[in-house]
Amino acid sequence: MKETLAIVIGAGPSGLATSACLNLLWIPNIVLERDDCFAPLWKKKSYDRLHLHLAKQFCELPNMSFPAASPTYVSKKQFIQYIDDYVSHFQVSPKYNRSVESATYDEFTKKWCVKAKNTSSNEIEEYSARFLVAASGETCDAFIPEVEDLDTFKGEVTHSTQYKSGEKYRNKNVLVVGCGNSGMEIALDLSNFGARTSIVVRNPLHMLSREMVNLGLILLRYLPFNMVDSFMVMLSKLVYGDMTKHGINRPQEGPFYLKVKYGKYPIIDVGTSKKIKSGEIQVLPAITSIRGNEVRFANGESHSFDAIIFATGFKRSTSKWLKNDDYLLNEDGIPKPSFPNHWKGRNGLYCAGLSRRGLYGAAMDAQNIANDIKTLL
Ligand SMILES: Cc1cc2nc3c(=O)[nH]c(=O)nc-3n(C[C@H](O)[C@H](O)[C@H](O)COP(=O)(O)OP(=O)(O)OC[C@H]3O[C@@H](n4cnc5c(N)ncnc54)[C@H](O)[C@@H]3O)c2cc1C
Ligand SMILES: *[C@@H]1O[C@H](CO)[C@@H](O)[C@H](O)[C@H]1NC(C)=O
Ligand SMILES: *[C@@H]1O[C@H](CO)[C@@H](O)[C@H](O)[C@H]1NC(C)=O
Ligand SMILES: *[C@@H]1O[C@H](CO)[C@@H](O)[C@H](O)[C@H]1NC(C)=O
Repeated sequence: MKETLAIVIGAGPSGLATSACLNLLWIPNIVLERDDCFAPLWKKKSYDRLHLHLAKQFCELPNMSFPAASPTYVSKKQFIQYIDDYVSHFQVSPKYNRSVESATYDEFTKKWCVKAKNTSSNEIEEYSARFLVAASGETCDAFIPEVEDLDTFKGEVTHSTQYKSGEKYRNKNVLVVGCGNSGMEIALDLSNFGARTSIVVRNPLHMLSREMVNLGLILLRYLPFNMVDSFMVMLSKLVYGDMTKHGINRPQEGPFYLKVKYGKYPIIDVGTSKKIKSGEIQVLPAITSIRGNEVRFANGESHSFDAIIFATGFKRSTSKWLKNDDYLLNEDGIPKPSFPNHWKGRNGLYCAGLSRRGLYGAAMDAQNIANDIKTLL
């Protein structure tokens, strides 16, 4: 049994930031990571053309800025470089290949006991600490929804986390399912590489440019929500016009409202809208059935595809390993207490980066958690 003061589960940006803040306060901590590197989502599970969707000042981890020379919208490669620098600067040293299987609270010792599996040998190691930080990510497990007869599909089926670039799809018929930011950008990438690309869009969505979002985030400091939202919708109408004839509708509620209320991000358009308007990317409604290579849609059309890429998001498995918590996280791994009280549970339990506020939120959580632990000590 290894003893420490705080155990951090997950070595993504949230866990790294938490460990860095603890290190700055001289609080001993251990970071457990199931993968064999830190920030695996960025290093191994994201597409090549990815850039941060938000301007760099909204994506900084505590106590370290991006280099002044880096562009406003940092590329994936630059972000990884930043994380590398961050980890070495704050001497964060996660323990890799450790998949946490359970975390239980002992009422008598007043400590958390964490069981982690060595992913190569399956041996179980035990750790114990007064404080426990769940930083296992909102995007923990790739999620593909149930689609009837998907197993009969003759082509390739992948999740967005496996997608690197459109290179191998040149001249192929490819269907992207899911119209979040990943789906939209993957569709653009496919089309740029010469794939005949379609995307399933089932729900209304807001389309904004990076600059609009940036402006919105700044305005939110001075103006009420609904005003900023109306302004965003006005700008969006001005720039993108009416896209209903291309299969894209606007929601009733505003973009920032939807973000805060349901954690639903607006689409930050990086060129997909143009290709939808020109017909290079075809928008299709929900899938109704699949047979062989043929996919049938809710509008009665049927098309043949060589590959389907599911950009249908993620699930969290926190509830499988986190025991003795009936206060902080719900079944789906999302904090139950509302912002800004979402990061602190009971008995020394915390969560970082689970409040749907991106890297900005993760950085705030990390600082709050480290300061709170400091105070309790
Ligand atoms: C494609 C994409 C683009 C994004 N772009 C932006 C952006 O521009 N700006 C922004 O602010 N946010 C962005 N986000 C959202 C978010 O900021 C990132 O997902 C970020 O990586 C979250 O960091 P995290 O540490 O909370 O989670 P993760 O990076 O997912 O890290 C969690 C870690 O925990 C590990 N883990 C999980 N379960 C266990 C377990 N049981 N035992 C041990 N380890 C475990 C995982 O392996 C992982 O390494 C983006 C997300 C995606 C998917
Ligand atoms: C972690 O696991 C990977 C893949 O199973 C293996 O290649 C690597 O050597 C392991 N690393 C450590 C530090 O155990
Ligand atoms: C880190 O940042 C926080 C918040 O900005 C600040 O209060 C603290 O003094 C900084 N710590 C160091 C060592 O720079
Ligand atoms: C996991 O087990 C293997 C085989 O026993 C061992 O070589 C390795 O060092 C262990 N890895 C970790 C991360 O403890």
